[in-house]
Amino acid sequence: MQLPVTTLQGYNTPFYYYDLELLRATLKAVNNEINGTPFIVHYALKANANPVILREIVQAGLGADLVSGNEVKAALEAGFQPCKMAYAGVGKTDWEIETGIDNDIYCFNVESVPEMEVINEIAAKRGKTAGIAIRVNPNVDAHTHRYITTGTTENKFGIDIPVLDEVIDKALSLPNIHLRGLHFHIGSQITEMEPYRLLCEKTNELLDHFGSRGITFEMVDMGGGLGVDYQNPEKNSIARFKEFFDVFKQHLHVRPGLKVHFELGRSIIAQSGALVARVLYVKENSAKKFVILDAGMTDLIRPALYSAHHKIVNLTSQASAIETYDVVGPICESSDVFGHDEQLPLTKRGDLVALLTAGAYGESMASRYNMRNLPQSYFSIDK
Ligand code: LLP
Repeated sequence: MQLPVTTLQGYNTPFYYYDLELLRATLKAVNNEINGTPFIVHYALKANANPVILREIVQAGLGADLVSGNEVKAALEAGFQPCKMAYAGVGKTDWEIETGIDNDIYCFNVESVPEMEVINEIAAKRGKTAGIAIRVNPNVDAHTHRYITTGTTENKFGIDIPVLDEVIDKALSLPNIHLRGLHFHIGSQITEMEPYRLLCEKTNELLDHFGSRGITFEMVDMGGGLGVDYQNPEKNSIARFKEFFDVFKQHLHVRPGLKVHFELGRSIIAQSGALVARVLYVKENSAKKFVILDAGMTDLIRPALYSAHHKIVNLTSQASAIETYDVVGPICESSDVFGHDEQLPLTKRGDLVALLTAGAYGESMASRYNMRNLPQSYFSIDK
């Protein structure tokens, strides 16, 4: 992504900066891959629901993958069409379900029978029929961080395959439910394609099985999870969309009339955002040199929560000497560390530092812990 230092110097730190040109190029790359296919991509708002970002994504024609009533509202406000909205999550409250039904969203991704019954009841009270997909736990290991793997029986998500027949029968029996298809999501930050190939095989088996029972679906939703390159963001600024979609083009048996949905979050927005902070102090003890930033885990929690690493660059230092620093935030928590033993040019108070690949699950996970202000956001193109 492009970071125009002189412009950035004029903003109050810490803030998120978004390169909308890179976002547009990313969306174009996605659309190029799905052009002429029965594939439909929904953007997972949980990755970043900044209204300016959402506007760009609406303009590129993507649908919306939602996980709360407020995300449904944000998607409506941003201009996503309800017929391109899917609402997932293990614990939807009544008002959230009502919000979805009242706005005629395309489908609820249902994670349990009790939830399906409640959706049916609420839809009946309103004289409506709610579209649903059954979220299936395919028991495919995504080989990613244990906090962001979701498709194995160890996880709270989805319905296990052995009871799927019963659950589908139940869905078909409920008068105010319209069963649209099956939904899967095996995890996030998936960098190998093999788990997706296994997912295709599982899906083929299930479609064959239900086909033999005379049950056909209008769509299958393969979830999201495509990973991005946190180590070399400059080199790989656009995710491996071709490789990803090719797996489904090659291995998923798409019957005529079947639509294939995807729910991509991170791979759409991660590389287009950076967290920009200022160096408050450089401090040294007997063991280490610390660079203390004015941004902390309240602005970007991924390093503290998942031991994730975001590439750190000093945008303003002209020094040729390289030093080793621990780069930390100001929060009263030992986990408020962005990087251990980082090699940076000689760094001093006032320098501007960027944490790259922070567009996804950065701003959207910011908190007000320590009563800090939420970070501002700025864009490469005027709003
Ligand atoms: N669909 C469902 C049902 C999901 O649970 C998720 C993400 C997505 C789609 C989008 O996945 P993506 O394409 O972004 O990988 N906060 C964590 C990531 C949590 C992902 C949760 N679910 C992080 O910062 O790494």
